[in-house]
Amino acid sequence: MGNSEISIKVNNLSKTYKSGFSGDGVKALVDVSLDINQGEIFGLLGPNGAGKTTLLKILLGSLQPTSGTALINGIDIGRPEARGKTGFLPENHRFPSYLTGMQMMVVFGGMSGMTAREVITEATPLLDLVGMLKWQNTQIKKYSKGMMQRLGLAQALLNDPDLIFLDEPTDGVDPIGRHEIRNILLELKNRGKTVFLNSHLLSEVESISDRVAILDRGKLLKVGPVSGLTQTKPEVTITISTITADKQNVITDQYPTAQVTGSRVVAPFTEPSEVNSLIDLLRANGIDILTITQVTPSLEDSFVSLIKGSGVGGVGGVGGGTGGEHE
Ligand SMILES: Nc1ncnc2c1ncn2[C@@H]1O[C@H](COP(=O)(O)OP(=O)(O)O)[C@@H](O)[C@H]1O
Ligand SMILES: [Mg+2]
Repeated sequence: MGNSEISIKVNNLSKTYKSGFSGDGVKALVDVSLDINQGEIFGLLGPNGAGKTTLLKILLGSLQPTSGTALINGIDIGRPEARGKTGFLPENHRFPSYLTGMQMMVVFGGMSGMTAREVITEATPLLDLVGMLKWQNTQIKKYSKGMMQRLGLAQALLNDPDLIFLDEPTDGVDPIGRHEIRNILLELKNRGKTVFLNSHLLSEVESISDRVAILDRGKLLKVGPVSGLTQTKPEVTITISTITADKQNVITDQYPTAQVTGSRVVAPFTEPSEVNSLIDLLRANGIDILTITQVTPSLEDSFVSLIKGSGVGGVGGVGGGTGGEHE
């Protein structure tokens, strides 16, 4: 792939926060290297505290890395020009609640040197894009969290950026609001924009991202397309009449990948014929079959086991954050 197609190039970035009381400090990023392609939606996924916001702040130039470098559109992030065509929606942003949506756009546009007239001309189609045009003259304090995030998206799109950074854009947003935000991000991709999305919610990232990176305790565990990221080999679960330990051994001798307990056999398979031979084996041993169910582990199961496998205790944020949130 030619270098011109790379939007962000991260080379061996590390960040250690020095803290007054712990000698070693907090290793928020450890030797992270990553390429983000132009025009893709890239999801940076990881539990709370993984280092996602730290990476974003470094790319935005608001935080210095301890070591390593990064380029945006080929320009070193140490130079402000690197961020000439970027927009940003911060995590947990607070907009002044007494302003209306359009007034907020004028305030933000003013910060980048736009006149009120220029902002209004540019903001009108943006507010339309995010479905907020009819609320433009309503005070922000009356907005739902989802409306606030959509306004934040419109703000991030001022000055027509090529690259948009979003930190937890759907955090605290209800399911319908999340769905709307996902559709807006897909529309931005259709318009040729590169979207870099931080999230601790797998369900948010997996449905729209072209590629995903999994960050955990500052380390990149995996980078790749959502489909190739985790193993999702199907399994069959067969409930059986209770059997003795001897019989269990007979089964596992002949079908080593099966896990057999007193009343249940769980086995991964690639071809249906393998399931048939397992059933034949059970029947040949006089074991009664009660039910047969096929289960394909969800990406979420794989994600949680990947994080657990890396030896990290803090999976609570991941499991808790994603539970039941698939729509
Ligand atoms: N300013 C800071 N000073 C010290 N530690 C920090 C600071 N900011 C973040 N951290 C720590 O760095 C780690 C990564 O934080 P962060 O980048 O915010 O993670 P995420 O965005 O993935 O939740 C966490 O352990 C966090 O407590
Ligand atoms: Mg964060």
